[in-house]
Amino acid sequence: MILGIETSCDESAAAVVENGRTVLSSAVYSQVPLHQPYGGVVPEIASRSHVEKISGVIREAMCSAFAPPGGAATEVDPAWWKRIDAVAVTYGPGLASSLIVGLSAAKGLALQLGKPLIGINHLEAHLHSVFLSPGAPDPHTVAPLLGLVVSGGHSCWVDMPSQGRYRVIGQTLDDAAGEAFDKAAKLLGLGYPGGPVIDRVARQAARVDAVTFPKGRPRAGNPALGELCAEMCVSFSGLKTALMYHLREKPPQDSAQVAEVVAAYQEAIVEALAERCAYALQKKRYAALAVGGGVSLNRRLRERLQQVTTRAGVQLLLAEPRFCGDNAAMIAGLAGVGGGIRGERAMRLDVVPALEVGAC
Ligand code: KG4
Ligand code: ZN
Repeated sequence: MILGIETSCDESAAAVVENGRTVLSSAVYSQVPLHQPYGGVVPEIASRSHVEKISGVIREAMCSAFAPPGGAATEVDPAWWKRIDAVAVTYGPGLASSLIVGLSAAKGLALQLGKPLIGINHLEAHLHSVFLSPGAPDPHTVAPLLGLVVSGGHSCWVDMPSQGRYRVIGQTLDDAAGEAFDKAAKLLGLGYPGGPVIDRVARQAARVDAVTFPKGRPRAGNPALGELCAEMCVSFSGLKTALMYHLREKPPQDSAQVAEVVAAYQEAIVEALAERCAYALQKKRYAALAVGGGVSLNRRLRERLQQVTTRAGVQLLLAEPRFCGDNAAMIAGLAGVGGGIRGERAMRLDVVPALEVGAC
């Protein structure tokens, strides 16, 4: 029975998960309205809000997990703490000043309760989020697994030969997929965060090929690729520049034209992601493709990945909508199946803002 805590960016979240799979509660306080006026996350506002909200969010997660049916508790019964076996918390990647709030709260709680602390990698937790649905398979039985994390700050493909083993096989060389959505919405004056509004506006478009946008293919030999192959990497910064030039040269005249531009832009991101998944599935025999992160809510992406996996004959594992964006159930869940940093090392953990998938 694990209490999870998550404060890596602009959500303060806590959850109680049993056996890594059964979510007893998941409380999320979203700071989106606080950052909306600025068109993006303001780190100082984020960390101050985490400090204000985290205790209440933990209390809410504990009460909704353990209060008897019909009893709307607002205070944690001391007996409920005894049922918690460990406290799990995100220690990276994310904003340092936000991560520190959750990590400090978790360390304090673990010390006070005399329970172990488990440090969790946020991106690896996004990949675990697909296993939190009641109908999902047991994570130990689906191997090898191809993982795709698509969030506001990260986009990467991960080869998982077995549960808990990760190797990054592809990534974005610049902007993350979510960032590409957010920047486009800002350029178009559609508000923040951009992903949900672009998803919605694109559905109104009569066609998706009214504008031709680059498909995010990096050139082979690009030094930013390092050890990774060009076929498994994407570059979204050119796409955003192409949109900027398009808007300058041919500003849309009405909402129908805005929808066509948005749909073409979304299509370029979705195609870039789908193409890399198809390539990886063709190169190696995987049991399933697991997709996590806020961008995995995108309807068109879900459709395209369904086509790609059906063609490859592998299972597509998507998280429930409430577990796609940042949440603490995925943190407690991954800890519950044996993930994360434990023991003496956990209590000495510091935040790691640039933590990568598979780094210990
Ligand atoms: O995973 P997440 O909640 O936070 C991070 O860890 O970054 O992802 C947030 C990102 C934002 O960039 C947001 O625009 C994007 O997910 N997003 C979407 C959709 N819903 C959220 N992108 C595309 N389509 C959506 N429906
Ligand atoms: Zn995230």
